[in-house]
Amino acid sequence: MEKIVIEGRDNRSAILVGESIENLKKYIPDSGVFIITDENVDKFHGKSFPDFPVYVIEPGEPSKDFPVVAKIYRWLLDEGADRSSFIVGIGGGVVCDIAGFVAATFMRGIPFGFVASSLLAQVDASVGGKNGVNLEGYKNIVGTFSQPDFVICDTAMLHTLAENEFRNGMAEVIKHALIKDADKFTYLQTHRHALLNLQPDALNTIVSQSVKIKAAIVQADEREQGIRRLLNFGHTWGHAIEKVSKIPHGQAVAIGMVFAAGYSVHQGYLKNEEYQKILNILEDYGLPVLAQIDNNKVFEAMLKDKKRDRQNMHFILLESIGKAFVKETDIEALKSFAL
Ligand SMILES: NC(=O)c1ccc[n+]([C@@H]2O[C@H](COP(=O)([O-])OP(=O)(O)OC[C@H]3O[C@@H](n4cnc5c(N)ncnc54)[C@H](O)[C@@H]3O)[C@@H](O)[C@H]2O)c1
Ligand SMILES: [Zn+2]
Repeated sequence: MEKIVIEGRDNRSAILVGESIENLKKYIPDSGVFIITDENVDKFHGKSFPDFPVYVIEPGEPSKDFPVVAKIYRWLLDEGADRSSFIVGIGGGVVCDIAGFVAATFMRGIPFGFVASSLLAQVDASVGGKNGVNLEGYKNIVGTFSQPDFVICDTAMLHTLAENEFRNGMAEVIKHALIKDADKFTYLQTHRHALLNLQPDALNTIVSQSVKIKAAIVQADEREQGIRRLLNFGHTWGHAIEKVSKIPHGQAVAIGMVFAAGYSVHQGYLKNEEYQKILNILEDYGLPVLAQIDNNKVFEAMLKDKKRDRQNMHFILLESIGKAFVKETDIEALKSFAL
C-alpha cells in the first residue's frame, strides 16, 4: 500500500493506493457513519461494506443532481445524523462527487472519506477536493472545494468494472503521462498486457503515479488559476465532442488529445514521431483517435463553451511527451487546422 498525502486548504487528505475495502473500518469512526453508494457497486461489493446505514443511488450521471441530494439530506436526518457524523462514498466519480457535496454542505460540513471503485475515480475524481453536482443538465455547475479525510483506491475492485469504463479511466491515465511524465508513458507502453489483465502491481503503479501527478498540480494551484489548466489537456475539444455526440467522456478526451497533439505538431512544437506514439498508445488501450462527426459542429460547440472576449483562447499543447504548456491560441488559426 502506498500513502500519498495532500495538504488541502483546511485539512490533510491521505490517498491510499492498493489499500483494500476490507480495511475501511480502520479509517472511520466506530459510530455515526453513513455510506453512500450506487446499485452496481452495492451489488458487487456491498458484502465488504462495514455495518452502517447505506444509501444506494441509481448508477449514472443523472443521479448527480439536486433531487437526489435532497433525498440524501432527508435520509441523513431520518437516520439521526448530526454534526459529529461521518460520510463514506463508495463508488465511481458520480458517487464520490455526490457524497463529497452532501458531506461538505450537510450541517455546514461534516467529515468524509471515499472508497474510489472506478479507475476514473481513483486517478481523477477522488483527487483535488472538488465536489460538483449538476443542475438540470448543466454539469458540475454547483459545488464545493473540500478534501476527504482519506481515499482508498482499491485496485482489486476494478475486476468488476465494465471494460469500457476501464478504458475511459485509461484516457485520463494517458493524459497524466502526456502532460507531466515521460517515464509513465514508457511504463504504459511496456506494461499494456499486465494492465489490460488487471495485474495488481501494474495497476497500483499507474494509479499511484497518476494520483501523484494530479496531487502535485492541484497542490500548486488549488483554486485553478495556473498550472491546473494542464489537466485540461484534450478536454477543450473533448468536451465539445461530448456536447455534439453520445461519445463517453474518456473516449472524447482521447480524441481531444489527438486533436491537441496534432495542433502541437502543426504549430511546430511537437515532433511527428511523438504524435504517432500518442496515436499508438491510445489504440493500444482501445481508445478512439478520430470521431465520425462534422468538425464544424464540434468547433461551434467549443466556441460556445468558452467565455471569450478576445480572439484567443487558452489551449493546452505539448512540447514533447511528458511536457505540456498553456498557450494563448488564435481561434482563427485553430479553426483553419480543425476544418
Ligand atoms: N470531482 C472531480 O474532480 C471530478 C474529476 C473527474 C470526474 N468527475 C466526475 O466523475 C464522474 C465520472 O466518474 P466515473 O467514470 O467513475 O462514473 P460513474 O461513477 O458513473 O461509474 C461508472 C460506472 O461504473 C460503475 N462502477 C463503478 N465502480 C465499479 C466497480 N468497482 N465494479 C462495477 N461497476 C462499477 C458505476 O455504477 C457506473 O455504472 C462524472 O460525474 C464526473 O463529472 C469528478
Ligand atoms: Zn476528464
